[in-house]
Amino acid sequence: MRILKKIFDQNNQWAQDMTRSDPDFFHKLSGQQNPQYLWIGCADSRVPANQITGMLPGQVFVHRNIANIVSHTDLNCLSVIQYGVEVLKIKHIIVCGHYGCGGIKAAWEDKENGLIDNWLRNIQDVQRFHQPELDCLQSENEKLDRLCELNVIEQVVNVCRTTIVRGAWQLNRELAIHGWIYNVKDGLLKDLDICITNQGDIPDTLLPRMSCS
Ligand code: CO
Repeated sequence: MRILKKIFDQNNQWAQDMTRSDPDFFHKLSGQQNPQYLWIGCADSRVPANQITGMLPGQVFVHRNIANIVSHTDLNCLSVIQYGVEVLKIKHIIVCGHYGCGGIKAAWEDKENGLIDNWLRNIQDVQRFHQPELDCLQSENEKLDRLCELNVIEQVVNVCRTTIVRGAWQLNRELAIHGWIYNVKDGLLKDLDICITNQGDIPDTLLPRMSCS
């Protein structure tokens, strides 16, 4: 059996359940999407944007890749940001990482995994920027957890530095960039206390992070 019947059965059930709770649900959504949020998250199967935030279809525009990277030259991610900001008029961009991220761990371990090593270079750059802080932490787990957080912070900065976000701010558009992290062990989101709403907010996040005190 190659048709993955189980998934179609589940889909059928889900569509029925949705229609039962709101008979007009699909009809309303089919007209247009009007999400308030753009989610940039990890492709990890345990971190699905809609489910963990309790949001319905239509409420969040989503881009996911390995380790929630916003690379300056990634046309895929940049196109999502542009469409989200300029066409959908999204007001909040959320970069959400997660503890226990396999991409972060692979970058940290620096073993050879083939093509993906090129992608993971982005994380190794983050590690290099923040090595003094990471060196202060005692355990491997603490270092990895902190690298997951630092990667979110750096990707938030990368979002802010795109021509798209800068352009939106120049037009005085209301647009906030947030950095969050998700814990796969308890299902909870944590706000990393970053919320950048204009160009002037960016430099603070670029200051060298704390080193051993
Ligand atoms: Co991950």
